[in-house]
Amino acid sequence: MSTDTALPPGPRAPRAVQTLAWMTRPMPFMERCRARYGDTFTVRIAQEGTWVFVSHPDAVKQVFTGDPAVLHAGIANRILRPWLGDESVLLLDGAGHMAQRKLLLPPFHGERMQRYGEQMEQIASAEVATWPTGEPMAMWPRMQAVTLEIIVRTIFGEAEGERLQRLRARLRESAELTTDWRTMLAMATIGPDRIAKANIFRRRMDPVDAVVYEAIAARRADGDLEGRDDILSMLLQARHEDGSPMTDVELRDELMTLLIAGHETTATSLSWAIERLLRTDGAMDRLRSGDEDYLDAVVKETLRLRPVLPIVVRKLQAPMEIGGWSLPAGVTVAPCIHLVHRREDVYPQAARFRPERFLEKPAGTYTWLPFGGGVRRCLGAAFAQFEMKTVLRVLANEVRLSPARPESEPVRRRAITLTPGRGAEVVASAA
Ligand code: HEM
Repeated sequence: MSTDTALPPGPRAPRAVQTLAWMTRPMPFMERCRARYGDTFTVRIAQEGTWVFVSHPDAVKQVFTGDPAVLHAGIANRILRPWLGDESVLLLDGAGHMAQRKLLLPPFHGERMQRYGEQMEQIASAEVATWPTGEPMAMWPRMQAVTLEIIVRTIFGEAEGERLQRLRARLRESAELTTDWRTMLAMATIGPDRIAKANIFRRRMDPVDAVVYEAIAARRADGDLEGRDDILSMLLQARHEDGSPMTDVELRDELMTLLIAGHETTATSLSWAIERLLRTDGAMDRLRSGDEDYLDAVVKETLRLRPVLPIVVRKLQAPMEIGGWSLPAGVTVAPCIHLVHRREDVYPQAARFRPERFLEKPAGTYTWLPFGGGVRRCLGAAFAQFEMKTVLRVLANEVRLSPARPESEPVRRRAITLTPGRGAEVVASAA
């Protein structure tokens, strides 16, 4: 390690070449960089600027426990602005971020989540009942349908029949845009601010916004908020420290944040769980036997071996020493989830899917990072794991699945997420 002020070493290829490698083959790209330059290295990505990847748990700890005034996450998530809006908890930093985060935390409290369990189970069970048997079928869109339904119902409640229909349909259309890597490449080259105003984008997003604002107005007019469990009703009652309620724009931006951050990620993770479980001898039988600890370990191991997001990012607002390097202001530090999860010193035989490892040793705060960390840790982490367990339990008990093809599925990038290359293809038969 060095303590000079130079940036850590990294590939010398032109920025465009590094960007292309990162967009098209992110895992081999990161692995090559670590093999060649060590735990900390510098890469250059289109107009995102200079990124310093860190993959040693000590350096990750420095980032996650560092001063949030120096380590800005919102500014680094700007690429999501066109979808989420300026008030989104994901895009804010400093006092603004903490204020929104405090308002959003209560609905995700453990106890409240248990109440969503029954609804989650019903949604998963209803979906399984529609599956054809004896023919190949990709799990990803099926899981996407389940997680979208779960998050929409959790946010808006049961009361919104027809409006929810429209919302679902419009979200699906706008999601096609978000999962297209060409959009993300356009973002990286022309920037999120111009995308947000572009016609092609507004045509898809304006109808979504219109239904969300409609739902906010209707719920506010309805009253009886105390009697309801849904997140919208809770947020309508939430108050800032000065006693003021959330504005419509704040509500819209946070609801969109929860919708978008909350469903594709979980669907992808569920698809990976199925893809891995079906290629692991005895795993499904063990789930069917009702072993809850094993189920929990399966979820943790899936998120370790196939993290949905390969990195999290923080943009330095002032110089900071991390991993033995004095990094200048303006650099983006990226704790690398993928590389930390592949450390042989933490996870022996790291490339193997072996849930038992989490029965032998609990997940570490700075070595198991699928949900990031510190004051930016994923707000939905407990919700997502609870949801994954609920859905996997239903699958184990209500249907028999086998892989459509024996070969493992490759990792494919969809916008910013890493998904199973064939969409987690299975063949179902009756349980
Ligand atoms: C398997 C599913 C999920 C994964 C892998 C995931 C992953 C992440 C990651 C990596 C971050 C960034 C953390 C950081 O910068 O340190 C994040 C942030 C966030 N996630 Fe998730 N997430 C998942 C599900 C959810 C769900 C279900 C919700 C809500 C319903 C949600 C809401 C959020 C929010 C609001 C933030 C921003 C937190 C902040 O900036 O303070 N996520 N998530």
